[in-house]
Amino acid sequence: MTTSEQAVREIAAWIRDARSIVVLTGAGVSAESGLSTFRDPEEGLWSKYDPMELATIDAFNANPELVTRWYHWRFTRAIDVEPNPGHHALAQIERLKHQHDSGFTLITQNIDGLHQRGGSSNVVEIHGTILTWRCTKTGAERPLSEIEFDQFPIPSDTGGLMRPCVVWFGEQLPESAIRASFEALSDCDLFMSIGTSATVQPAASFIEVARENGARTVEINRDPTPITDEVDLTVLGPSGLVLPEIMDALRELDGSGQ
Ligand code: OAD
Repeated sequence: MTTSEQAVREIAAWIRDARSIVVLTGAGVSAESGLSTFRDPEEGLWSKYDPMELATIDAFNANPELVTRWYHWRFTRAIDVEPNPGHHALAQIERLKHQHDSGFTLITQNIDGLHQRGGSSNVVEIHGTILTWRCTKTGAERPLSEIEFDQFPIPSDTGGLMRPCVVWFGEQLPESAIRASFEALSDCDLFMSIGTSATVQPAASFIEVARENGARTVEINRDPTPITDEVDLTVLGPSGLVLPEIMDALRELDGSGQ
């Protein structure tokens, strides 16, 4: 058995034994659905722009046309792509834990809605969602499907501009999502960080909160990150492959009642 096979089986056993699990996900989980991450270089027209400089309130205020075009190009693809096996495996793990009356909270930094489409139900979106847009003047919200991308920036009916309901650098995170995250973290006994570079706060500090509360910690990522050496177990690999492997190992354990 390889080291990573052993880690997969051990993580499955930890999931089986956990009373309450918190999973934190980032852009890497959606990579295999065809959505590029924040730190992987883009190709083509938009490659000269740094996502970190476009996903800001200052950038929108200075150049709403550019930022709206970028969000349109980058994230409205989210409705055209499909959840991948990693999203589905997380939803299956959630269902299994709920069958056993255990807690399972999925905190995501992703704004693409793919976890919900993949079947997850308890999802906390700390960076908001691209699937809803709102007027900068009145705050009135509209679903993405009702937004017409025929001019940039997009005027609202009431004289403002339409912008995505996502959290930009320089903006407050949704209070209810942060409260729900810390409540779940303070009660979890297993914390898993998946497909995130673990560099953007407050998500980067979630592992500390979980660990202070005595939780075991796991990371699944294609590449090493700043928390790789801190977690109890790590599997380096694409989440769309590793998560289904963990789910298979969990089914084996669960079926055998060990
Ligand atoms: P990043 O782009 O920072 O990191 C993505 C992580 O996923 C990296 O560590 C990659 O190595 C990893 N990765 C890539 N493909 C993978 C795969 N197939 N399987 C597993 N891992 C893979 O994205 P986030 O960590 O989500 O915030 O970024 C956090 C926040 O920073 C974003 O929500 C966004 C960004 O600025 C805001 O816009 C406010």
